[in-house]
Amino acid sequence: MKKGFTILAIETSCDETAAAVIQDGKIISNVIASQALKLHAKFGGVVPEIAARSHITAILPTIDLALKQAQTKLSDLDYIAVTQGPGLATSLMVGIDTARALGAALNIPVLPTNHLEGHIYANFIREEGGGKTKGKRKRAPFSLPPLPALILTVSGGHTLLVEMKGHGNYRIIGETVDDAAGEAFDKIARMLGLGYPGGLQLSLLARKGDPESFDLPRPMINSGNFQFSFSGLKTAVLYTLQKYKKPTNKIKADLAAATQQAIVDVLIAKLEKAIERYKPKTIMLGGGVAANDLLRKRFQILASRFQILASIPKLEYCTDNAAMIGLAAHYRIRNNKIQTKNFSAKPDLTLK
Ligand code: KG4
Ligand code: ZN
Repeated sequence: MKKGFTILAIETSCDETAAAVIQDGKIISNVIASQALKLHAKFGGVVPEIAARSHITAILPTIDLALKQAQTKLSDLDYIAVTQGPGLATSLMVGIDTARALGAALNIPVLPTNHLEGHIYANFIREEGGGKTKGKRKRAPFSLPPLPALILTVSGGHTLLVEMKGHGNYRIIGETVDDAAGEAFDKIARMLGLGYPGGLQLSLLARKGDPESFDLPRPMINSGNFQFSFSGLKTAVLYTLQKYKKPTNKIKADLAAATQQAIVDVLIAKLEKAIERYKPKTIMLGGGVAANDLLRKRFQILASRFQILASIPKLEYCTDNAAMIGLAAHYRIRNNKIQTKNFSAKPDLTLK
């Protein structure tokens, strides 16, 4: 294996067209072209056909910009990493076809990469310049989170509790039996008349509300296993809203706060039980919902109580991005765990 190597990473699994350049495990550039507000907001969700078409127009300019910002030429690249799944088939295909064409033209390997592994590796991201003196203040050197770890991956498509014993060594110990946590945020946000994607909007509105004002269910909180369920919460909010002819802003804010509290309570309660059982050295967060203020705070408090490390990615690495895909590929290359054989999009890919 080469010592130093440069990866171009491409991510198109949902509605973000993203590209990043990773050099020796450091993020040199990270470009994201989001379609959410411009294209999907008016439909209240991602429209696969529109997403795929938009990826087609955005992918080459996004790659170009990532290379330019990294001052890297195509000929400097050693590998291309691309998201293989899970995600929307037609969106994944755009990234994969582009990666393949570039890989063939440059005669370099193309590495299919798991999106969920990417969300995990957001916790291992080092940015260029980390540890060097910047201005007067010295940044703390980045040290890798110790393993074994428990990872809570919470996004629009997934709610997973994963045990990670080593690089590339994962075991799913819990997942959702119905809606993902982000999906619950988005659907309830929609009921409250907030825009799409609703998670962030709901959390902003929650700041003005009282989480104790409504007694919402915490589905499966005492189920004795690590499975999650959020569809009952969604129904409870719907029934609560139906009691009001015209809910006031105060009621909406209170419901937003109570919803956020219920979702975070369940996530933290399950994680707490999992820490007791699996005794990790680190707990890590990943996925778009990891951008949630309350979750980040409670996650940190939980880790302090157990005196273990809480690893929480910077906001830009929580939602979908290509840097995390490049980093997952970086570790696979370093650990000689790559496969470059012919591959295709896997919309239902899971973690193994
Ligand atoms: O990881 P991601 O970008 O895409 C998927 O792989 O699904 O996650 C997007 C999800 C959306 O459901 C969005 O509403 C949610 O992350 N999200 C949030 C926040 N920011 C994004 N949910 C709660 N609070 C936030 N601040
Ligand atoms: Zn994601």
